[in-house]
Amino acid sequence: MNPRLEVSGLTTTFGGGDSTVRAVRGVSLSVDAGATLVLLGESGSGKSVSARSILRLYGESAHITGTVRLEGRDLLTAEESEMRQIRGRTIGMVPQDPTAALDPLRSIGSQISEVLRVHRMTQSRKETRQRCVELLGLVGIPDPVRVMRSRPHELSGGMRQRVAIAIAVSCEPDLLIADEPTTALDVTVQAQVLELFVELQQRMGMSLLMVTHDVGVAEELDGDVAVMYAGVVVESGLAREILTEPRHPYTAGLLASLPSPAVRRGQLTVIPGRPPLTGEVGTGCAFAQRCGDVQPQCRTAEPELVPVLPGRQAACPVVNETALREKELSA
Ligand SMILES: Nc1ncnc2c1ncn2[C@@H]1O[C@H](COP(=O)(O)OP(=O)(O)OP(=O)(O)O)[C@@H](O)[C@H]1O
Ligand code: SF4
Ligand SMILES: [Mg+2]
Repeated sequence: MNPRLEVSGLTTTFGGGDSTVRAVRGVSLSVDAGATLVLLGESGSGKSVSARSILRLYGESAHITGTVRLEGRDLLTAEESEMRQIRGRTIGMVPQDPTAALDPLRSIGSQISEVLRVHRMTQSRKETRQRCVELLGLVGIPDPVRVMRSRPHELSGGMRQRVAIAIAVSCEPDLLIADEPTTALDVTVQAQVLELFVELQQRMGMSLLMVTHDVGVAEELDGDVAVMYAGVVVESGLAREILTEPRHPYTAGLLASLPSPAVRRGQLTVIPGRPPLTGEVGTGCAFAQRCGDVQPQCRTAEPELVPVLPGRQAACPVVNETALREKELSA
């Protein structure tokens, strides 16, 4: 069975000449039907650009290459008119900041109705209204009829994000892309909203592509994880395996710098240095400047993401060699 979303060799470049920004440099990932993939990484690693490139949200301002297949259809070569149908209907998008995404002057009801109308999901005003009430109920909003008449500023941040989620799932999309949807919320509300994603996903059978810098979110969603660094995926596999036993030196460094049940506050170690700016990435592994395991071979070519364990991939020849040795010893 083919994955529902299959991204291969995705590169996204902004600008040109001296000001060229190579934000995403060959990202490959896949999400099965009903499955979850968390794109995890520090600020500037290319998570949002990857997610937005899948939806072709940059128009002419970015040069995008590679392939993005949704149920086999290549989105990068699709007509813009088809993409307008796909955005919102086949792929739903939940923004980081619902305040910016919602129109402050219009009622919640009219904003949800508009999406249903544009994508011809309902046939009559009565049906549209019923569906709005149903959707608001589905995302856990008490008193949906009152909320439909409200404007965004009359709701709390958590409620606004629930409305944004209702809009994103209104057409029962095959894939939901959420870019840091809980970052702007209080910690307790964050947990509730995350639970809502899981609930909706199970109910609707959607695939979920979640963008986050928060390891806790990846842990909570308990699906697959792709760890990004400087525009590439450096490690991918199951969250529960990667987060307990990372293989790539960057993933290991990232986890060692965060408190977790395994690493107590007094034992935290920070990765030295900082991630390279997009213009500073040269030949070889982008993590080489900061890596404690660096070898001469690391600087000659960009490491490819290859299988290192069953269900696990890492872009590091040193990890790969270790995996091969372990395999030989156990054979
Ligand atoms: N529209 C744009 N034009 C030019 N450069 C951009 C644009 N959008 C992003 N970039 C650059 O691309 C790189 C990756 O950005 P991206 O927004 O994907 O990071 P991110 O991983 O989502 O980080 P954050 O956690 O801060 O959201 C950054 O260096 C950023 O400055
Ligand atoms: S390729 Fe080399 S520099 Fe890069 S993470 Fe692996 S060991 Fe470190
Ligand atoms: Mg981002």
